[in-house]
Amino acid sequence: LDNGLARTPQMGWNDWNTFFCNINESLIRQTADVMVSSGMAAAGYKYVNIDDCWSTKSRNASGDLVPDPQKFPSGMKALADYIHAKGLKLGIYSSAGTTTCAGYPASLGYEQRDAALWASWGIDYLKYDNCGDHQGRNGQQRYTAMRDALAATGRPIAYSLCNWGQESVWTWGMPVGNSWRTTGDIAANWSSITGILDQQVGLEAYSGPGGWNDPDMLEVGVGSLTATEGRVHFSLWSLLNAPLIAGNDLRSMSAETLSILTNTEVIAVNQDWGGRQGHKISDNGNLEVWRKPMANGSVAVVLLNRGTSTSTLSTTASALGLGSASSYSVRDLWAHTTSTSSGTISASVPGHGAAMYIVTGGGIVPTPSGTIKGAGSGRC
Ligand code: DGJ
Repeated sequence: LDNGLARTPQMGWNDWNTFFCNINESLIRQTADVMVSSGMAAAGYKYVNIDDCWSTKSRNASGDLVPDPQKFPSGMKALADYIHAKGLKLGIYSSAGTTTCAGYPASLGYEQRDAALWASWGIDYLKYDNCGDHQGRNGQQRYTAMRDALAATGRPIAYSLCNWGQESVWTWGMPVGNSWRTTGDIAANWSSITGILDQQVGLEAYSGPGGWNDPDMLEVGVGSLTATEGRVHFSLWSLLNAPLIAGNDLRSMSAETLSILTNTEVIAVNQDWGGRQGHKISDNGNLEVWRKPMANGSVAVVLLNRGTSTSTLSTTASALGLGSASSYSVRDLWAHTTSTSSGTISASVPGHGAAMYIVTGGGIVPTPSGTIKGAGSGRC
């Protein structure tokens, strides 16, 4: 969507993956405090996003949505002021149907009224879900109606489509939203992460500045996901140019979780637009190689071991699409060390683990498949 926002994938936090409906303004304020004090804001995170369950169960007499006075006694304008004073941005949630997934009133048929209300509060981001009755309208119509309502407010509001990959949203999402969910909901376990990963294959042609494939929010530091699995998740979501929306409790995260979420070398891969989203280039049972061309002519690579025991994975500069050179520089984005290679890149990778590198040398050899699809009127 050509609204000037999300020219690189959006970064922030959302309450859903950890708190579900147990939300209130203290949680949101404390999260904003920690986003700054922990160094996450300095690493690029800026959106603090409220998900489902923030409103009362019905609209007021004028037809407006009302923040639940128990959960948000100070109101959303005061909350937005607090967040903005920290240099951060506030996100809200609704659905392109008659109700949200948790049964609260939603915005189908109320697009202009709701968008104007959010703009009056100082909202900066909308996550727009797909629950409730659709009144016979398809997703493209319903999501476009809210796009137009947000634009009419005159306030820059990042627009995240959450229709779970239905109706091949990636084929029409670019002129409609700043990102679009490509799958159903993520969960904090290995099979969910790898299952979602499998559904990203082939979608790399559809994303670009202003509109990103969204394989759902991060589960780093949540549930049963180990730190090694968390590094896999963060490496691949970064390589996929996914929005990086943390979903853990920032107030109680471990030093290890924080170090994953603030690995600025990995984040730099996510925030770089090299002409194409990262994609899988080879697959040998449980051992996969993913690559992303970077703007400066180097290539980011993830060596993924989906098995349960340690294995050696290898690729070559040529397989990564690099031209020939007498030597290549190989930067390890997790160990933060640099080595040289004559062309083979290999690593011993633990089960459910990954290595991530930037390989430089030889320049990127152009491929005809580098064209971007889904390039509707909304992109430059
Ligand atoms: C479904 C979405 O996919 C989730 O991310 C979350 O927003 C819930 N709905 C909220 O009900």
